[in-house]
Amino acid sequence: MLKGKHLIEPNDFTLNELEEIFTLADSIIKYPEKYLDICKGKLLATLFYEPSTRTRFSFEAAMLRLGGQVIGFSEPNSSSVSKGESIADTIRTVGCYSDIAVMRHPKEGAPKLASKYSNIPVINAGDGGHQHPTQTLTDLLTIRSYKKTISNNVIGLCGDLKFGRTVHSLVKALSRYSNMKFVFISPPELEIPSYITDELIHHEYYQTSSLEEAIPELDILYMTRIQRERFFNEEEYLRLKGYYILDNNKLQHAKEDMIVLHPLPRVDEISSEIDNDKRSVYFNQAKYGMFVRMALIIKLLGGDNIA
Ligand code: CP
Repeated sequence: MLKGKHLIEPNDFTLNELEEIFTLADSIIKYPEKYLDICKGKLLATLFYEPSTRTRFSFEAAMLRLGGQVIGFSEPNSSSVSKGESIADTIRTVGCYSDIAVMRHPKEGAPKLASKYSNIPVINAGDGGHQHPTQTLTDLLTIRSYKKTISNNVIGLCGDLKFGRTVHSLVKALSRYSNMKFVFISPPELEIPSYITDELIHHEYYQTSSLEEAIPELDILYMTRIQRERFFNEEEYLRLKGYYILDNNKLQHAKEDMIVLHPLPRVDEISSEIDNDKRSVYFNQAKYGMFVRMALIIKLLGGDNIA
């Protein structure tokens, strides 16, 4: 039963609960007309202390497509946060006006803190370099849709694996599926933290800096951006930016049925020359993000019994 739960980390939900969400997302994709009014009278609050396009818009589109409404801010300085209001007081206030809240924050742990003071479900929409669980739901639904099964795949994760919260969440979630192999592709400075790989006790994995060497064995390639906003030093960012560029030349060594995912936004790590390759599914992935968030909202508000 997911009603009333918070989603702070991807493994807050059991595999069965995740499957319930994916099955509902499949149904929404197939029969959208069945869900047009299911959240009528309900309000989603979007609290974005950090910029976003996909996560905020897909949550807002999700709620509007379910017949509900949306309030919130995309710029904290337009709220009383600018006067020094705490996260605890903000979420307690937002809970007076809305039924479910989505929070993105630059500080690790901020949505978890909010959930402790909240009387409505809080969804973590990305906290610093920590976790991004609804991106993970998006990624898992995309993998499940294209590969038919989430288990039994070799996945390469490429780019900023140190600060990349989408990578951290996805690896954590995939570690619960069987027969996965992980290939971590990054410059030495941006290697995956050991607290993530420590969880891979039942899985094979290795680290490399060579995308060219890794690509032939992959079923899934998860590209990520080198994130300027996570660097303290602009020189270091400029040195590492452009380290990986996936283009036709590299893609020709990949399997015909490999899929390329990217949480987006991209800068230059995927050349636009591969956008029309059938393996490039990152814009469909963004669309799956809306459907899976529709399913998540329905489940957290009570499934078939949203009153
Ligand atoms: N994938 C993702 O989180 O994108 P936004 O930063 O645009 O929300």
